[in-house]
Amino acid sequence: MQLTDPKGKLHTIELVPGKIYHTHRGQLPHDDIIGQPDGSVFTSTNGSLYLALRPLLDDFVLSMPRGAAVVYPKDAARIVGLASLGPGARVVEAGVGSGALSCSLIRAVGTQGTLHSYERREDFAAIAIKNVSKWFGKTPDNWRVTVGDLALDCIDREVDAVILDMLAPWDCLNTAAEVLLPGGVLVAYVATATQMSKVVETARVMACWTEPRAEESLVRTWHLDGLSVRPDHRMNGHTGFLVTCRRLAPGAVLPPRRRRPAAGAYGEDYSGPGALPDSQDDPTRLES
Ligand SMILES: C[S@@+](CC[C@H](N)C(=O)[O-])C[C@H]1O[C@@H](n2cnc3c(N)ncnc32)[C@H](O)[C@@H]1O
Repeated sequence: MQLTDPKGKLHTIELVPGKIYHTHRGQLPHDDIIGQPDGSVFTSTNGSLYLALRPLLDDFVLSMPRGAAVVYPKDAARIVGLASLGPGARVVEAGVGSGALSCSLIRAVGTQGTLHSYERREDFAAIAIKNVSKWFGKTPDNWRVTVGDLALDCIDREVDAVILDMLAPWDCLNTAAEVLLPGGVLVAYVATATQMSKVVETARVMACWTEPRAEESLVRTWHLDGLSVRPDHRMNGHTGFLVTCRRLAPGAVLPPRRRRPAAGAYGEDYSGPGALPDSQDDPTRLES
């Protein structure tokens, strides 16, 4: 349960019959809360009011025990969207870390779909299994965890999507290409621009992927109080970048893209094929 105290602070507790929640604002017996509907308000022994709600998945993943850094809810939602995951999809992910992203993936693919998660570290896999099982109330039947390296131990074939969240996703691109169905989606979540560049350039050299695209998303919460309605002063300015591309059919060659060279690529005096019409036309600038 998630208790909101009179100052709006959240406290997550696991309800146990007979137990008492002690706060500096008095005590709250768990038995008062057990069996009551979500969204009920309870009074502690010193008269403070607590709102009780079951945590949402977003709340749960941010408060659960962590082995490795988790994928934030805003990025998990985009990953589900970018990979077009829905009921029945077959997905492979690595690494599983703390299991935060796994929760979103398992939910997206539903009971008809499957998620196979690979994790190199046994201790992290154990944390993830605990977290995911806690969220779903049991270890989901459509989820399998393998302790091992995706690049060495992957046994899957013909999956719809491969999701990589690790330090060196480029090491797993060959495996991803082997296991994905033609048209299947690869999503790599990376924290830095240098990782992003390396995964994109590796994918290009492999020549079995569509042209990679990359994005990041920024979520800004708002302060809502009377006339003081404005963006909050603080936000998570950076979590990670998402690089996506799709598996080409075996033997298919991506049609060459006709692109003008980047400004200055051949020097100012160049006037040959692909030259810019005039020095003001800078393709690196955003066009209106
Ligand atoms: C940042 S964590 C993943 C967090 C996870 N997505 C979550 O939301 O909780 C990265 C994990 O990838 C694992 N890892 C790195 N390379 C791997 C590989 N080649 N195969 C399997 N796991 C790998 C690491 O051990 C680490 O636990």
